Amino acid sequence: MAKADYIISLIKSHYSNEPERFTTIALQIAAHEAKLGHVLVANEIKSIIDKAKETKYKTKTFAPELQGLILENVPAVNLSDIIASDDIKSKIVRIVSEFVQRDKLRKHDLENRRKILLSGPPGTGKTLTASIIANELKLPLFTILMDKMVTKYMGETSAKLRQVFDLIEQKQGVYLFDEFDAIGGERSRDNDVGEMRRVLNSFLQFIERDNSDSLIIAITNNKALLDQALFRRFDDVILYHLPDENEKLALLKNRLAQFSKKLKFNDLLPKINGLSHAEISLACIDAIKETILNEKQIMSNQLVLKAIKDRNAAYHK
Ligand SMILES: Nc1ncnc2c1ncn2[C@@H]1O[C@H](COP(=O)(O)OP(=O)(O)OP(=O)(O)O)[C@@H](O)[C@H]1O
Ligand SMILES: [Mg+2]
Repeated sequence: MAKADYIISLIKSHYSNEPERFTTIALQIAAHEAKLGHVLVANEIKSIIDKAKETKYKTKTFAPELQGLILENVPAVNLSDIIASDDIKSKIVRIVSEFVQRDKLRKHDLENRRKILLSGPPGTGKTLTASIIANELKLPLFTILMDKMVTKYMGETSAKLRQVFDLIEQKQGVYLFDEFDAIGGERSRDNDVGEMRRVLNSFLQFIERDNSDSLIIAITNNKALLDQALFRRFDDVILYHLPDENEKLALLKNRLAQFSKKLKFNDLLPKINGLSHAEISLACIDAIKETILNEKQIMSNQLVLKAIKDRNAAYHK
């Protein structure tokens, strides 16, 4: 095959999602280069393929014992999807930039920020932030289902946690401990307080010891936990809050502007006090749905207000 044909086949196999075929063609290219006497090129291609195989193998060996306790996904959101203060956005950018340039930092004996604590009210973009970071770094996002771990492996949770931290060490990714303090839900408040405390302590110890190339993100809604003992174990803490006037406006424009140029966003702002980013987004979607499904309905301030009122009534009784 001529070089151009190889390239075309490679591109085709990539877009038709045929990794096996991709590897076969890459090996053919290596053989072709070797025949032409380009031994260095041939060897480099082969070593890239070998490395990729190694990583794949690791994933397979680790999956079974943690089955059902970790969700893997590849998020498709980026920095422009979050509406937040400049402070929050610049912290996200800094985490990404330090990670990308961590080798540079290491040459000076410095570590990139990689243990991150996010805290704030529901629906303000904490989980979204974890997805954005994973996507910006082109890493898989692994969400650890802490409360499943506690209910299913009562008493052995610390042992399971150790396996999770082994995985963090072996497979590079963004590991998300979402609401790690809500372990066991209601139950943990009475009977299982002891167990919860133990789990939390071992979690914090594992975090402290971790020395991997992965990124660890822990999320909590529990302000009481935000004491110094917790803070000092993390490299960075990002605090989230309900949207201010600028953020509310940005959210409304972002969700509704394409739908109607006639809306007077500024009139809506005072009516959406106390709602989170997520609630405002949902109210906008409600209003859009209503205009789509009801032919007589046109998108208006009144309609958006009704949707906001409904959301308000549902969440803030
Ligand atoms: N700051 C934000 N900017 C834009 N959209 C947001 C923001 N916060 C929330 N949303 C919207 O709401 C959805 C839910 O938000 P997210 O899951 O990030 O909230 P959270 O802070 O993790 O809340 P919880 O504490 O309830 O888990 C997001 O997928 C997004 O559509
Ligand atoms: Mg969340």
